[in-house]
Amino acid sequence: MMEDSQVRIAVIGSGYVGLVAAVCFAELGHRVVCVDNVEAKVQALRAGDSLIHEHFLPELLAKHRDVNLSFTTSLADAVRESQAIFIAVGTPPTGQGDADLSYVEAVACEIARSMNEYKVIVEKSTVPVYTSDWIIRVMMRNGIERKDFDVASNPEFLREGTAVSDFLHPDRIVIGADNERAIELLRKIYAPLASGTYYKSADAIPGRCSAENPASLLLTTPKSAELIKHASNAFLATKISFINAVANLCEAVDADIEDVAMGMGMDTRIGRQFLRAGIGYGGSCFPKDVAAFRAVANQVGLDFNILEEVEEINKLQKNRFLQKVRAALWTLRGKRLGVLGLAFKGDTDDIRESPAIDVIRALQSEGCTISAYDPAAMQKAKADLGDSIQYAGDAYEAAQGADALLVLTDWPQFATLDLARLKTALRYPIVIDGRNLFLPATMQEHGFAYVSMGRASISPIRELADDRPLPVGQTRNSR
Ligand code: UDX
Repeated sequence: MMEDSQVRIAVIGSGYVGLVAAVCFAELGHRVVCVDNVEAKVQALRAGDSLIHEHFLPELLAKHRDVNLSFTTSLADAVRESQAIFIAVGTPPTGQGDADLSYVEAVACEIARSMNEYKVIVEKSTVPVYTSDWIIRVMMRNGIERKDFDVASNPEFLREGTAVSDFLHPDRIVIGADNERAIELLRKIYAPLASGTYYKSADAIPGRCSAENPASLLLTTPKSAELIKHASNAFLATKISFINAVANLCEAVDADIEDVAMGMGMDTRIGRQFLRAGIGYGGSCFPKDVAAFRAVANQVGLDFNILEEVEEINKLQKNRFLQKVRAALWTLRGKRLGVLGLAFKGDTDDIRESPAIDVIRALQSEGCTISAYDPAAMQKAKADLGDSIQYAGDAYEAAQGADALLVLTDWPQFATLDLARLKTALRYPIVIDGRNLFLPATMQEHGFAYVSMGRASISPIRELADDRPLPVGQTRNSR
């Protein structure tokens, strides 16, 4: 890349968003310094440890570290060296559900103290609308003249597990800025993706974009950009809760949610994605962002009641799953359960707000013992659940001697397990699948009792197949 197309960038925060953004900006040819105030993290990153489980991250870190990517604890130095400063610090929920912006404010104050020339400050973290206005106020309160900086919003839409390819092959790049100088700098930063030159390079990370079909860039105001991010996450969460509500309806009328979701998704206006029924959404974004978006609406006097329902369905989904376990096993005290999956979704080691962890805790409180396996999240789960569960070396070990096997995370490799071997390992051949990873017909062929979400249950024992809640006053035998 030619020197004059290179931008000097500081990324504040080396969490999922910050680290991936820093590494990918370096991949686009910019000179990047990534800042974190945790010394141990900076040391680890300097030594080449990518810290999170993310495809392509170790490769890109190795490629750019000490070349055009460095790590530091000094925010002041990073700010002074940079033209653009991306804020990618955490915005955790407060007790009231709105986002805690104190880290963003602290960073803005520190940026103000370190200013030496015109800079563009860019919000990369998911923040409520009006945050850009607040950053401007904080800068000015700290004595920086308005002409010496601009604030832009450039939200990130990356998913954990595919974050690097999501960054380099985005559905869209949203730039919210209301000043030509800021727009120009952000355009320059993303030029390799928007013009398609990045995709021509022989060692480009593969993905959906290409030189002929490069990334689209959407220019808008900072406030609209802020809303695009929150509204997108809230909409995706709504899609998931909607399909989970339909799955419950499917169970009540003996329909099949996989067929229903397929039929709905074939309508291009609806789309196939995010229509997978299961035990609900988790992770560091959806639960927090749905609550924060509701809080934003409330603050301006609007009720966003649909989001309350989205949250309620998501919570109830875990209860419905627990009800299926009870219906399949009768009493729970003293039962040994094998668990497949601890992460909040497949292909990540992240257990934040993981429905799997919530389900495990609920089962423990009912007296079950748990033996769990997850391909990547065992270490993080251990920090949370400690020795209260057993950690198995693989899926078969988790199933060994268990009264039933529960599938709680959609790791693709679970779907290809050796079913005959699993059956031999289990004490009883019962699988309760919270992620619909298996085909009921295949499970039936292998002689399992199989209970899943929004599909008819199958069982060699007749009663077990009927896990629908009974009408009030009715017993199973009277139906
Ligand atoms: C999400 C957004 O997708 C991303 O754009 C944003 O930047 C951050 O939040 P992420 O949290 O990594 O990304 O995970 P995602 O793949 O979106 O899944 C979120 C949760 O929804 C997971 O618990 C997943 O299991 C669940 N999910 C997803 C479903 O239950 N059904 C689906 O159809 C899709």
